[in-house]
Amino acid sequence: MQGDMGWGSLTVLALAASGANALLRFSCSQLVVERLDPLVNPGLAPSPHLHQIVGGNAFNTTMDPSTPPPSLATCTTCTFADDFSNYWTAVLYFRSRNGSYIRVPQKPNVGFEQARGGMTIYYIPYIGSTKSSVTAFKPGFRMLIGSQSSRTREETSRFRQLTYTCLQNMLTRTGETLDMPKKPCPAGIMSNVRFPTCWDGKNLDSPDHMSHIAYPSSGTFESYGPCPSTHPVKIPQLFYEVIWDTTRFNSKDLWPEDGSQPFVWSQGDKTGFGNHGDYVFGWKDDALQKAMDSNCDRCPQLKSQSIAQGNQCTRPVQVHEQIDGWLDAIPGLTPGLEDQM
Ligand SMILES: *[C@@H]1O[C@H](CO)[C@@H](O)[C@H](O)[C@H]1NC(C)=O
Ligand SMILES: *[C@@H]1O[C@H](CO)[C@@H](O)[C@H](O)[C@H]1NC(C)=O
Repeated sequence: MQGDMGWGSLTVLALAASGANALLRFSCSQLVVERLDPLVNPGLAPSPHLHQIVGGNAFNTTMDPSTPPPSLATCTTCTFADDFSNYWTAVLYFRSRNGSYIRVPQKPNVGFEQARGGMTIYYIPYIGSTKSSVTAFKPGFRMLIGSQSSRTREETSRFRQLTYTCLQNMLTRTGETLDMPKKPCPAGIMSNVRFPTCWDGKNLDSPDHMSHIAYPSSGTFESYGPCPSTHPVKIPQLFYEVIWDTTRFNSKDLWPEDGSQPFVWSQGDKTGFGNHGDYVFGWKDDALQKAMDSNCDRCPQLKSQSIAQGNQCTRPVQVHEQIDGWLDAIPGLTPGLEDQM
């Protein structure tokens, strides 16, 4: 199982480097880190657990699908300036031997060194040389993949492509695992979130934010697996890479004496099986569809901005609470919650 998992980003990285593939790979700096989740807990501030969010500054407690981000946002942290989408994941904490927690910082990916944390976003229309047409997401579209409450391999296997890469160096793209790395990773931990690539063609969202999307009925996106008849429309593969700078916690004498690993997701998951990612589509007009159709990678026809400009896009924090420094508990959680699961 785990041996099968190297293909995704390895292929992507190799093809991105050669410029042979039509994928968009770009940087989105941090917008905010706070307890909001307009998809799962609209209107709730604070939401149950902490997220790190990138993209357009229309991100808010509630995001009404009838007023998509391009109509509200004034800037984006992404280098494609017409992309006002929001992308978010949970946040990683380190638990020390004395039981206190500290937030693990994020670090930029290869090629995007000036970014203020955040993540690398990919939209992939096809892999290799077999071109296929994909339908870009529609205004109001949103989705979620993964389950914050998963704590076992079985529970997370149904999501197929939520993984970790233990970075030996910043270019490591092999050896993905479904659970949190068990040993210190010399260059940090990369969490990888790949969304399903088939859509029912009708619903912009669904009650669980997942039923309107599906994986190929056989094979994978990468092996050109067909979409199931219930979800016949092929959509681009959306993929997040998030790099957690765990390096300052790599000394074994900081790790738990029982040999377990010390990193905990902000929903209280130390297994890593609760990896999840959220998406609210927010490209302006048909910019994304045009980029997918033209098989471009740098896509000069798209409006872009520098990483430094993206870093300047901000939005006021709405939930005021301490998330940094040594904490007795992860924001919103009972101390030691992760040990009960
Ligand atoms: C968030 O929503 C509230 C209520 O609708 C609104 O007053 C506020 O301006 C919004 N904030 C941002 C940053 O869009
Ligand atoms: C807990 O351990 C961390 C890391 O060793 C240390 O920096 C912190 O001060 C300790 N906190 C308490 C309350 O002892």
